[in-house]
This record gives sequence, structure tokens and C-alpha cells, in this order.
Amino acid sequence: MKTEISTDRAAAVELLRKGEVVALPTETVYGLAADALNAAAVVRIFEAKERPRFDPLIVHLPDRDWFERVVDLSTQDRQLVLKLVDRFWPGPFTVVLPRKSVVPDIVTAGLDTVAVRISSHSIFAGIIGKFGKPLAAPSANRFGMISPTTAQHVFDELNGRIPLIIDGGATPHGIESTIVAVREGKIEVLRRGPISEEELSTFGKIDIVTEGKISAPGQLPTHYAPKTPLQLIDDAKSFSARADRGVALLAWSPLKIDNRFVAIRTLSERQDLREAAANLFRYLRELDALDVDLIVAERVPDRGLGAAILDRLQRASHRPDAPARPE
Ligand code: TXA
Ligand code: MG
Repeated sequence: MKTEISTDRAAAVELLRKGEVVALPTETVYGLAADALNAAAVVRIFEAKERPRFDPLIVHLPDRDWFERVVDLSTQDRQLVLKLVDRFWPGPFTVVLPRKSVVPDIVTAGLDTVAVRISSHSIFAGIIGKFGKPLAAPSANRFGMISPTTAQHVFDELNGRIPLIIDGGATPHGIESTIVAVREGKIEVLRRGPISEEELSTFGKIDIVTEGKISAPGQLPTHYAPKTPLQLIDDAKSFSARADRGVALLAWSPLKIDNRFVAIRTLSERQDLREAAANLFRYLRELDALDVDLIVAERVPDRGLGAAILDRLQRASHRPDAPARPE
């Protein structure tokens, strides 16, 4: 199959209507979209990504009218859920709720809940609006790899497997949406993301369930693994590299040229966490492509968006002897 990169939105809508998959930009990362209510179309997403069938997908809605057509909101948490989506939609915010039967089993991997969000990206919103139905869309990378933030990243991983990638430039947030479940009046954070715990805490009590047990099935410990071993460090200034090893640095603190490192990428020269998140996956890919022996990444401050960045770095870090991808 030939994979095209284009800006032709009408072609995207037409392919989606035929039950094909199309990669689309969102405000977080690129997604691999298909008709969420068509099980045969959704199967194509799993095949292109080589994603295990036990890992459920996020359903993107064209608008709020679709919300209660796919989820069951007759819970005691209804008011809290509505407040949250009023505040954060459209945007990088996903909520897991009991599903309605219109959502095929393959989308939720058989779970009785479904993850939903409304994207604010103008291209995504335009295409889903024309399509007129929900789109299932996981990040458009192969399973276990880093999420794509440009059309070229998608092409590098899925060339030959999908017909079309819509190019919307680099995605603004650069990391995946915040995922929460709302249960018994509490907001459970299943995946950290652009909407921080600080922001969520104004709506209710927060429970962080991203560590330890696998709360979202896709949150495997090495989910964001580059090929190169990656080590988290506190501070590059005090790092001593072995002379026989090529080491690349993903820096938080700006550093002048430094001969301990083959290459340096600074997440944000002005130490802005938003800019750092937007650059994170691109820089990880660039350093991974250099064929060095080790990537060292400096810890970023553990507040706001920093917590979500650290979470990705922790999952990206693995020792040379550990498997780079989840089994
Ligand atoms: O920003 C994003 O969320 C991007 C863009 C494309 O929308 N999508 C994305 O999808 O990151 P994906 O499939 O790469 O990650 C979705 C995560 C997975 O970890 C999956 O296990 C979890 O959401 N998930 C989906 N449905 C769930 C459910 N019913 N209960 C718990 N976790 C769920
Ligand atoms: Mg993903």
C-alpha cells in the first residue's frame, strides 16, 4: 500500500467513510483514526499498529451531543463529570465512563467502560465534523514506540500500512491527553498529561493511579521506549560518562557545548514546561536515531506539566539488558 502525506481533508473523510484508517493531527499527538462504530474498520487500527487486542482505544467525538450516545451518565458522578468536560473540552482531556452498547467490543477490548474525548485541533475537528460520527484513534505509532508529533514520524513507523497521513505540522502539546476516571466523587488520574493535577484538583479529590498497577491497559512500564538505553539523571553537570561510550544528553538545564556528550538537545532553553513537552518526543526520536550507546535525560521539575513529562521519561528509561518493548 502506498502511504500519502497530504493536506486533503476531503480525501480523509472519504477514506474514513469506506472503513479505512487515516492518520490525523490532534492537539496532543498524531492519531490513527477509524470509524469507531464500525468494528471492521477498527480492526485495521490494531493491525497497522501491531497493537494487542487487550489494549482499548480512545473514542473521539464530533461534539457534545454524541457524549451521552456513547457513555452512560446515569451515575452519582454525573454533575462532576459534566463540570470537567465543560471546562476541558474540546481539549487534551479524556474521561473513562461506563459505555453504551453502540460502542463495539473491539474498541474497549471488552471492558464495560469507554475512554472519550473531543479534540480541539482545527484539522481533526473539521474532519470529524464532516464525517459526522465518533472516531477511534490511538496514537499513530507502532505499539510500544514513542508517540508521533509530526506527519513524518507517522510515516517513519507506518509507511506502507496506511493509505493517508494528513499533515498538520507539529502537534502543539506534544504529549498524550490526560486520562481520568470519575468514581464515587473522586477523580482518578489514569495517565498524566497536559491537564495537570493542580488544575483538576479544583474540581474534586484526586487519586493518582498511574504508578504501580496498570490502571490504563496501555500504561505498561516501558510504553515509550526508544531503542537506545535511556537513563534518568538529576543533573548533567555531575554526570561522568565512560570514555568508550557514546552518550547523548536530553537536557533540562541549558548547557554549553560539552565534550562528554555526542549530542545535546535542550527541552526548553527558557525552561518552559509547555515548550519542553512539545519538544520531548521529537528530541527523543532524534537522539535515538544517532546510534549512541546511551541517552541520559535530566529530570524536569515534578510540578504541573513536569509530572507528565517525567512520567514519559520514566517509561522511556530502561537498562541495556532489559527488553526495549513490552512483550
Ligand atoms: O492524546 C491522546 O489521547 C491520543 C490522541 C490521538 O487522541 N491518543 C492516545 O491513545 O494516546 P492511545 O491509544 O495511544 O492511549 C490510550 C490509553 C491507553 O493506555 C489505553 O489503555 C487507555 O487509554 N484506555 C482506553 N480505554 C480505556 C478504558 N476503558 N479504561 C482504561 N484505560 C483505557
Ligand atoms: Mg499510544
